[in-house]
Amino acid sequence: GEAYRKIDAEICREMLPNLPKEKGWITEHLVQYKGVWLTPTYALKAAVQLQHHFNLFQTTGSSTSAARGLSPICFLATIPKSGTTWLRALMFATLNRSLYDAASPHHPLLTTGPHDCFPFLEMDNMLENHDHDDRDSGDGMINNYAPPTSTTQLFATHLPFSLLPKSVTTSSSAYCVSKFVYVCRNPKDAFISLWKFGNKVKPVNTGLAPLSIEEAFELFCRGVYPYGPYWDHVLGFWKASLEMPAKVLFLKYEDLRKEPSANVKRLAEFLGQPFSEEEESKGVVQQIIKLCSFENLSSLEVNKTSMTQQYFVKANIVFENGDFFRKGQVGDWKNFFTDDMAKRMDQIIDERFSGSGLTF
Ligand code: A3P
Repeated sequence: GEAYRKIDAEICREMLPNLPKEKGWITEHLVQYKGVWLTPTYALKAAVQLQHHFNLFQTTGSSTSAARGLSPICFLATIPKSGTTWLRALMFATLNRSLYDAASPHHPLLTTGPHDCFPFLEMDNMLENHDHDDRDSGDGMINNYAPPTSTTQLFATHLPFSLLPKSVTTSSSAYCVSKFVYVCRNPKDAFISLWKFGNKVKPVNTGLAPLSIEEAFELFCRGVYPYGPYWDHVLGFWKASLEMPAKVLFLKYEDLRKEPSANVKRLAEFLGQPFSEEEESKGVVQQIIKLCSFENLSSLEVNKTSMTQQYFVKANIVFENGDFFRKGQVGDWKNFFTDDMAKRMDQIIDERFSGSGLTF
């Protein structure tokens, strides 16, 4: 607690005033730290603090992670609006299928929003170090964040590979075995998805007006996107997946849409829990896909009427579970982009991704 407050104070006093600042999509501002655009309210603090936290246990080996022995920590990494909600559900359901039958009417995903199924790395740190109690959301409802039991330690993160602690990104560490599932989405759809999401949540959280599409597009093209630039985020994990294929699995939202079954099998295998022949013949893969489908999740009461507990309890941010389900389609950008926008985005994609082997 004390160490956290010290870092917190230092960031506010010494670091913040000197960082480049731009208009935010969700928060009032984004600030640029080590080349990455972060919300000053929690992402910046988390990035700085995480480096201390994870390094600490790597050098002393005295934290809970060492106590866990070598059981892997599984990270879901995304840049916002690339399929975080979907993959949270898929990872949780897949890795916990020995605990919870995907076809059961009591599956935790039927009553818990995907964002409350396991912690968000950037905020988990805050909870450990602040003594947050149950919070009153203002409508008399007491909010409490208690994720369902999981067989595997899971975290979601938006931090780029470059800002994650070395103890979890290097190929092997004596104290920590970690794996990353990265999901990437075509930038045009991600852009529209974030613009739409920001329009909903920015006014609620800041009282400020949403961004016009032109304003948002300019920010995107200059790299000002939460945890962006978009291309740096994607390329960071893409390169890591090529260099360390056993550590980083690189998936695409569009592929998951087209071939859910093949991709969920890849996911399970990568995470060390391949589906058995018996499971496959019993239709377990299909059950998980159905449970986590846009149609199913978005129609659940919890995802229609509740806000995410984690964001509110840990960082006082109001996101409705329903805000994370909009259309869930590939190619919705075509309904919003002008020809000029499409041309400019294609040019950026060309410049930034050519030679990488990645195409959109
Ligand atoms: P759209 O805004 O294009 O509809 P994230 O979860 O990273 O915040 O991304 C949100 C995007 O994923 C939204 O895209 C949302 O509709 C879509 N999405 C949410 N749940 C999904 C699911 N189960 N299957 C497919 N897409 C989903």
